Amino acid sequence: MGVPKLLSTPPPADAMTPGALWRAFRRIPAGVTVAATTVDDRSVGMVVSSFTFVSMDPPLVGFFGDDRSTTFPAFLEGHGWGFSVLAQGEEEVADAFRRPVEERFADLSYSVQSSGAVLLDDALIGFDTAPHQVVPTGDHRLVLAEVSNYVMRPRCDRPMIYYEGRLSRLDQRPLIDDDHWDRFWDE
Ligand SMILES: Cc1cc2nc3c(=O)[nH]c(=O)nc-3n(C[C@H](O)[C@H](O)[C@H](O)COP(=O)(O)O)c2cc1C
Repeated sequence: MGVPKLLSTPPPADAMTPGALWRAFRRIPAGVTVAATTVDDRSVGMVVSSFTFVSMDPPLVGFFGDDRSTTFPAFLEGHGWGFSVLAQGEEEVADAFRRPVEERFADLSYSVQSSGAVLLDDALIGFDTAPHQVVPTGDHRLVLAEVSNYVMRPRCDRPMIYYEGRLSRLDQRPLIDDDHWDRFWDE
């Protein structure tokens, strides 16, 4: 049995202040996804970095929505939710979501699915989904959605990465030339 080692560098005394904790959270790399839907015939969308895949059976994806967001409650009203995973090179798309909610889609190419889900044309992957469950979690809500369809761009495109408060690129050179980490998913 191994004996747990003490951290060699003790955490700073202020480790649990919001600022320090946020600096730690920012070190977790994430993709950049536009979550968007239709409410009263208007497209409503926001950028989220917490989007991820959740389950294969049923096919679920999800993200964490901030209760302080003004867009998030409107998004929850949609009957179909679209998730567009942004590719490297789509920084202007991400930028559009810094605008007021009613102006975000003005210069974007997108399609509205029959579900009401809004998908951006040039996304790396677009998921058309139906609401599955919304779970309160602290000052966010976990939003789970069931995938009914998806579209993918060619594999050569790479995802946009959000890391330490910056939109960044993925360096896809493998660290270990072994498919072990990929085979995990087939088991
Ligand atoms: C890179 C990035 C990632 C974000 N990730 C999330 C997220 O995972 N969940 C969330 O609720 N808001 C997230 N936000 C914030 C929302 O996109 C939005 O800016 C926020 O809801 C405030 O805008 P609003 O009040 O107009 O809705 C993120 C913003 C950026 C720029």
